[in-house]
Amino acid sequence: DEGCREELGSLHGIPLYKSFIEGWPQVEAFQARHDDLLIATYPKSGTTWLSEILDMIYHDGDVEKCRRDAIFNRVPFLEMKGAHPTDPAPPGLLPGEGLGCPQVIYMARNPKDVVISYYYFYQMAKMHPDPGMLAEFLEAFMNGKVAYGSWYEHVRGWWEKRQEKQLLYLFYEDMKKDPRREVQKILQFLGKEVVEETVARILHHTSFQEMKKNPAANYETMPSSLMDHSLSPFMRKGISGDWKNHFTVAQNERFDRHYQQHMAGSDLCFQMEV
Ligand code: PPS
Repeated sequence: DEGCREELGSLHGIPLYKSFIEGWPQVEAFQARHDDLLIATYPKSGTTWLSEILDMIYHDGDVEKCRRDAIFNRVPFLEMKGAHPTDPAPPGLLPGEGLGCPQVIYMARNPKDVVISYYYFYQMAKMHPDPGMLAEFLEAFMNGKVAYGSWYEHVRGWWEKRQEKQLLYLFYEDMKKDPRREVQKILQFLGKEVVEETVARILHHTSFQEMKKNPAANYETMPSSLMDHSLSPFMRKGISGDWKNHFTVAQNERFDRHYQQHMAGSDLCFQMEV
């Protein structure tokens, strides 16, 4: 059923789903509490993974509590209409521009794996326009003409924000390579100490294999009119370097040139596989 596919709208020049644009005033009205934590990611960069890790940390490794609802309800997207309460601001709120969240964890993933993951997501998640052939989608991605706009501007913009904010900048590839070290970094950032047994439970519960079979984490509770997992599961492969199974040599060379031009002058550096 291709019925509900529609073209993206535009928010401040950034392509975005029309329903999220309608919900945007709610994001602008959002006022953070002093202990709020914002997860910021470009799509397909480990949002769900990081969300599950944080929910486990906040619930002290209690697996049953972390099954209480679907991940997109436990850790809501601010831009999803009606996703979070917009109660009048209680006293004790932090002032500040934008969302004003005192703590931010950002997760970035190499763009070649992002674009492949995104291509499959465009096919299975029906709020996207038809992505066409991969060649076409690669061009759209490189030109920032996909939902949420330019990957380059996103990763670079947040990389530069590290100076001004209490921001932990993580990489999907590091999380794949050494999840224990990355979870320790998160715990340290949050100023939390947990016993080894809890760390082990967090790592087990948030592994790709566990999340893939967990209905509270794998998006299978989304109505099939919105996400068709028979076209591609949301928990698809969960590896680094899958782009090699998809890019042609020519596409890879073109992508590398474009990447070098757009990352020039930045000390931000991505591992394309681990
Ligand atoms: S979304 O739709 O933007 O919120 O997607 P997001 O969650 O950011 O990214 C989805 C990709 O992350 C992979 N994933 C994981 N990889 C490794 N370990 C764990 N636990 C994990 N959980 C999710 C998911 O499979 C998507 O990547 P691909 O490459 O498509 O498999």
